[in-house]
Amino acid sequence: MKITANRVSLSALAAGVFCACALATAQADESSAPKPKPFDVKNAFRNICGFCHEDYGRKEGKGPQLMDDPNSDEFLFNRIKNGKPGRMAAFGTAFTDDQIRQIVVFIRNLKPGVEPQNP
Ligand code: HEC
Repeated sequence: MKITANRVSLSALAAGVFCACALATAQADESSAPKPKPFDVKNAFRNICGFCHEDYGRKEGKGPQLMDDPNSDEFLFNRIKNGKPGRMAAFGTAFTDDQIRQIVVFIRNLKPGVEPQNP
């Protein structure tokens, strides 16, 4: 009887250890799960806009240079969102308003000879 009782408590202990491990693993998984990435403006600009706005918009290409653009933030925002028929596509469905605002900040931060950064 004594031996049996010992076995029972041992397996109960083992189960307890297993549970604790499983719990720890689950918690580790949760904290290492990929968080939603912040919008990578620089990468998006290079891939989507760079074809026409060369060197991240620091140089004129098929589209105008965007660095030091004399127009207002609102103008830039609206041009990106609504495009210009026959000249530039509208990106209002590709990007959220918040993302377009971040693109405008990115453009405003462009400086000659300084590697562009995400805002
Ligand atoms: C197919 C080429 C093309 C692509 C791709 C393109 N643009 Fe343009 N963009 C233009 C042209 C051309 C103009 C000038 C439109 C005009 O005549 O007013 C322009 C104008 C702009 C302007 C206004 C600048 C000004 O002073 O008039 C902004 C801001 C702008 N683009 C941002 C972007 C962003 C951001 C992207 C990527 C999401 C992008 N563009 C993609 C061709 C392009």
